[in-house]
Amino acid sequence: ELGPSDLCHVESMSHNPSGAGKINKLNAVILGDSLASEEDDLILPSAQFSQSALISSQQQYENMYKKSVDDPAGFWSEIASEFYWKEKWNPNEVCKENLDITKGQVSIEWFKGASTNICYNAVDLHVSAGNGDKVAIYWEGNEPGQDGQLTYSQLLDSVCQLASYLKEVGVRKGDAVIIYLPMLMELPIAMLACARIGAVHSVVFAGFSAESLAQRIIDCKPKIVITCNAVRRGPKVIFLKDIVDTALTESAKNNVSVDICLTYENTSAMKREETKWQDGRDVWWQDVVPNFPTKCDVEWVDAEDPLFLLYTSGSTGKPKGVLHTTGGYMVYTATTFKYAFDYKPSDIYWCTADCGWITGHSYVTYGPLLNGASVLVFEGAPNYPDAGRCWDIVDKYKVTIFYTAPTLVRSLMREGDEFVKHYSRKSLRVLGSVGEPINPSAWRWFFNVVGDSRCPISDTWWQTETGGFMILPIPGAWPQKPGSATFPFFGVQPAIVDEKGKEIEGECSGYLCIKKSWPGAFRTLFGDHERYETTYFKPFAGYYFTGDGCSRDKDGYYWLTGRVDDVINVSGHRIGTAEVESALVSHPQCAEAAVVGVEHEVKGQGIYAFVTLKEGVPYSEGLRKSLILTVRNQIGAFAAPDKIHWAPGLPKTRSGKIMRRILRKIASRQLNELGDTSTLADPGVVDQLIALADC
Ligand code: PRX
Repeated sequence: ELGPSDLCHVESMSHNPSGAGKINKLNAVILGDSLASEEDDLILPSAQFSQSALISSQQQYENMYKKSVDDPAGFWSEIASEFYWKEKWNPNEVCKENLDITKGQVSIEWFKGASTNICYNAVDLHVSAGNGDKVAIYWEGNEPGQDGQLTYSQLLDSVCQLASYLKEVGVRKGDAVIIYLPMLMELPIAMLACARIGAVHSVVFAGFSAESLAQRIIDCKPKIVITCNAVRRGPKVIFLKDIVDTALTESAKNNVSVDICLTYENTSAMKREETKWQDGRDVWWQDVVPNFPTKCDVEWVDAEDPLFLLYTSGSTGKPKGVLHTTGGYMVYTATTFKYAFDYKPSDIYWCTADCGWITGHSYVTYGPLLNGASVLVFEGAPNYPDAGRCWDIVDKYKVTIFYTAPTLVRSLMREGDEFVKHYSRKSLRVLGSVGEPINPSAWRWFFNVVGDSRCPISDTWWQTETGGFMILPIPGAWPQKPGSATFPFFGVQPAIVDEKGKEIEGECSGYLCIKKSWPGAFRTLFGDHERYETTYFKPFAGYYFTGDGCSRDKDGYYWLTGRVDDVINVSGHRIGTAEVESALVSHPQCAEAAVVGVEHEVKGQGIYAFVTLKEGVPYSEGLRKSLILTVRNQIGAFAAPDKIHWAPGLPKTRSGKIMRRILRKIASRQLNELGDTSTLADPGVVDQLIALADC
């Protein structure tokens, strides 16, 4: 799918303003001591924090890290033994892997032959250990004052009822189930119910359009789709069931028919009488599920049996079905959660991610529940009814660990400190960031204002493919540098390689790869193992290639600098430029489109689209809106271009390849840095584009 020659230059993609690798003089501030200022490069954990932390020193981290890479099988077996396994693995075959494509098929297996069930470990075990009355899920609705909760015992009952229903309607081990739900408690319940019976869930973010949903349904052919009729998000109502109806009609045209659409009646958004209905296919959740028994036998599955499929964007138009299996993912998400947030049983944990993305899989549902944590699930929007909502929720539930994305930090930062300071936030202990590089000024605001300079920030770098955290500062162990994801997690062996795939040591910049497998790694792309190998293992033979650029400074800290392929990261949402392009060219008046990412103050990156219209079609504001609407309808609102740049032609090489490097420079108005344009088939195109930049 991609070779090193297709990658952008790491330097040119670097939007990390932190001056990675350029730290000459280190100024330090101790956690809780004073505000971290522009001059402070190091934030040291306080003695008080470290003393009670699970990993309390660099030395302890280093000892554990060394053990994890010297003897991965021993390290992970010891941790895995803390979980319930119906049958244990063969101690001589804890991990079998081949990451080197030149030596044969790429494959990764952990704990193969052992059997377990992740739902049993995440729910039943806590109940049988006497923690059934502990709250598993706190739920906060869109409107302040609208809330609910489930203890572990109640969660078990609810999961069993749905699992019993799914079994009754014929869902079996290995069958796919699509879940298209907003952040209701029913979403983690549905994931766990599938896992309980060995069905493979595929959660589709409820912001995806009918077309995107249909594409996923056609790919994985689920027996059943689980949804709700509508949801309120901030002041808006979104009619999810209508979207599902359209998607199911579209799938049927492609000979994929779904027998059942199980629909939760979300009464606060829409009454059932108003919901469009197809008799024989559509079933109200509330009419059937509560009638099923609250006991449901667990399906013991092999550690390598699939747990879920999650579609993500790549550098072609077709989303990739990232497949995670059971045993390694279970051990990895639970362990990373525990150490990344220094988890204590008294914690109240809130991750603002939606379960439609990997963060919601690993760190709303599985990781926290496997640890027996109390997790907050929030249905609403973080700025509704105003920009203080998050801190209101933190105070209401006494949240101790708050995990979010830089885009949210930046958007709340813009609203001013008053919204934050109005609330106490004194329960907060650890903060977390994910999804994109966090720029140092947002880091400092998060640290100083939200966390009152008291809470370490776990800046977790990872991916849908990695299943769990890969590079992060373990709180209490490491001095932090604002904007650096710091050091690798146990068992993770990062390598920075150059264009030729040669590993570079010491202080350097290059392409981020990983040398060995880790238990949470994805095992394949659903139905396309070849694409798995080509995309991730071919660019640099012998390594897993992450698609990210990275620097390492003289102290060994890692600084992620963003994607180096044709994937952009908008508000922490991963979007393939090819997906947006193919949506644009489906517009009847669009001849050609090229999309690039451009720095955006709040979203991290914005979507910048160069559009060539069909012969004779005039530019107009109406057409611009209609092009944007096409993308919203085909992918989802989150993928709507921020800018349409009219392009009479696109800069292409003589062989017809679009030179995106030039488009990126035009988009970011770095017009003095266009570089060599003489190899273009028509160099005049560049001047035309510049002339139209502000039209
Ligand atoms: O570019 C990296 C960025 O997000 C990409 C992965 O996106 P996705 O699979 O959607 O998963 C997002 C949540 C894990 C990465 O290739 N990314 C994620 N976390 C960070 C990050 N970039 C810098 N720092 C991070 N903490």
